[in-house]
Amino acid sequence: MFPPSTRRLLALAVALPSLVCAGFVPLHDFHDHSPSPTIAKHLPPGTKWYHPRDHPAHRLFARQATNNSTGSFPSVGSPAWSAAYPTTTPDSSQLPQAWVNALNEAVQAGKIPNIPPSTLVNGNPTYPSGYDPLGSQVCSGTYKCRNPDDIWDAPEGILGSGFDDGPTEFSPTLYSFLKNNSVKATHFMIGINILWNPTAFEQAYVTNGDDIAVHTYTHPYMTTLSNIDLVAQFGWTMQILYDSTAGKVPRYWRPPYGDTDERVRAIALEVFGLTTIVWNQDTEDWSLTTGGTTMQAINQSMTQWLTGTKSPGLIILEHELSAESVQAYMDAYPVMIQNGWKLQSVSEIQDGQPFRSDGGILDVNDSVGATSSTTSSSATSSSSSTSASSSHPASTTGTSSTLRSSATGTVGATHQSSAGSRWPISSALLACVAGLFFTLA
Ligand SMILES: *[C@@H]1O[C@H](CO)[C@@H](O)[C@H](O)[C@H]1NC(C)=O
Ligand SMILES: *[C@@H]1O[C@H](CO)[C@@H](O)[C@H](O)[C@H]1NC(C)=O
Ligand SMILES: *[C@@H]1O[C@H](CO)[C@@H](O)[C@H](O)[C@H]1NC(C)=O
Ligand SMILES: *[C@@H]1O[C@H](CO)[C@@H](O)[C@H](O)[C@H]1NC(C)=O
Ligand SMILES: *[C@@H]1O[C@H](CO)[C@@H](O)[C@H](O)[C@H]1NC(C)=O
Ligand SMILES: [Zn+2]
Repeated sequence: MFPPSTRRLLALAVALPSLVCAGFVPLHDFHDHSPSPTIAKHLPPGTKWYHPRDHPAHRLFARQATNNSTGSFPSVGSPAWSAAYPTTTPDSSQLPQAWVNALNEAVQAGKIPNIPPSTLVNGNPTYPSGYDPLGSQVCSGTYKCRNPDDIWDAPEGILGSGFDDGPTEFSPTLYSFLKNNSVKATHFMIGINILWNPTAFEQAYVTNGDDIAVHTYTHPYMTTLSNIDLVAQFGWTMQILYDSTAGKVPRYWRPPYGDTDERVRAIALEVFGLTTIVWNQDTEDWSLTTGGTTMQAINQSMTQWLTGTKSPGLIILEHELSAESVQAYMDAYPVMIQNGWKLQSVSEIQDGQPFRSDGGILDVNDSVGATSSTTSSSATSSSSSTSASSSHPASTTGTSSTLRSSATGTVGATHQSSAGSRWPISSALLACVAGLFFTLA
C-alpha cells in the first residue's frame, strides 16, 4: 500500500481528466433534451443491477480473489482484498487469460467492429478521415450519436437517480442523505476509487443497498484505447465489484465523458455483458471546484428541468466528486419531490413495457445473447446541433488553485506518469499534467 502522500498523488489521475483537464474537453455538453427513441430499457419487475447467477459473464471473474480453502471472498478493505487489484492503469499484457480469450472469441465471431481508436485532438476524441463519428459505423457518444441499445432518457415522469466517479471522501454525506430520504440510486463507480475507499463502498452497497455500475478502472476516454486496454478497464472494475459483492456481475456501465463508440459498446456488451447508460441532462457539477460552473447555475438548470416536461423523463449527470456537487443534489432534492418526479435508481428503471433480456453475451448459444448482434448493425445517428466542440464553461486553465482543489477533491486514482504512455494526451492535457506535478512539488 502507499503512504498517504503517495496516495494523494495517486488520487489525482482520475481527478485529472475529470476535473483539472476537463476544461480542455468540451464534452460534457449534452444540453439537448430532444425526444428520442432511446428510452431506458424496460426490464422485467425484480430486475437488478447485476446479472442472474447463470449469466455466462460470471465465469470471467469466478477464480480471481476467492479463497480456495474457504470458498469465500476476502473481506472488503482487508489486506488480501487490497492486494488483488491494480494500483494504477491496469497492465493489459498481464490480464487473466479468460478475459483475453473472451475478447478474441468475440473478435473472431465478428462481434467487435473493426474501427480505429480515436485520438485526442485539442481534447476531443477524433477519428481518422473516412470515419464519421455520427455515422452508424462509429456512432460516437461524444458526438451525441445515440445507439438505440444505449439508455439516454428515462420513461415519462421518472427521474433516474445516479451518481458518477465514486466512491470518494465526499460520498458518505451523499449516501447518508439518500438513505435518510429512502432514495435508491445507482453509483457509477471508478474501480480504483473502490480500492482506495472501501468503507464508503460498503456504505453504498451494504448500508444503503444501492445499485452499483461500472465507470471504468481509471476513467480514460474509452474510445482512445485499444481493444485489449478496454478489456483491462472493464475487467478490473468488474473484478473488484464481483469480489466485493460476493460474486455479483454488474449489468450497466457509463462511459467517462460519455465517450463511447460502436467498438467500445460492443466490447462492453459482447465480452462483459454491459449495457451503456448515458444521460439527457448535465449539471456540469464536476466542474464546480474548478470554476466551470456555480451552485447558482446548477440551481437554475435543475429548476428548469425539474419544473419542465416530464416526457421524456430525466437522467441527470451528477457526481459524488466534491462537497459542492453533493450539496447541489441535496438542494435540488426537495424540488424533485415537489414537482412529482418518481425517483428510481437509474439501473432499475422500468415501465412495464416489453423488454429485451439480453444483458450481453459470451456464448453464442446463450439465451440471453440472442439479440445482441444489433450492437454492430443497428446504430442510428442523431445529428445534433451541438457539436463536440461546442461551448463549454470557462474552466480551461490549469491554475494552481484549480489543481490544488482537485488534489484534495478526490481520493483514489492511478498514477498519471504510468498512465501517460497509454493515454493519447494532447499538448493541452500534457501542460495540465505538468502543472499538476509542479503544484504538488
Ligand atoms: C483463506 O482462508 C483461510 C482460513 O480462514 C485463511 O487462513 C487464509 O489466510 C485465507 N487466504 C486468503 C488469501 O484470504
Ligand atoms: C486459487 O486457485 C487458483 C487455481 O489454482 C489460483 O490461480 C488462485 O491464485 C488461487 N487463489 C488464491 C486466492 O489463492
Ligand atoms: C441523516 O439522518 C441522521 C439521523 O437523523 C443525521 O445524523 C444525518 O446528519 C443525516 N444525514 C444527512 C446528510 O442529512
Ligand atoms: C435553489 O435555491 C433555493 C434557495 O436556496 C432553494 O430553496 C431551492 O431548493 C434550490 N433549487 C434547486 C433545484 O436546487
Ligand atoms: C450452438 O447450438 C448449435 C445448435 O444447437 C450447436 O450445433 C452448436 O454446437 C452450439 N455452439 C456452441 C458454441 O455451443
Ligand atoms: Zn466520470
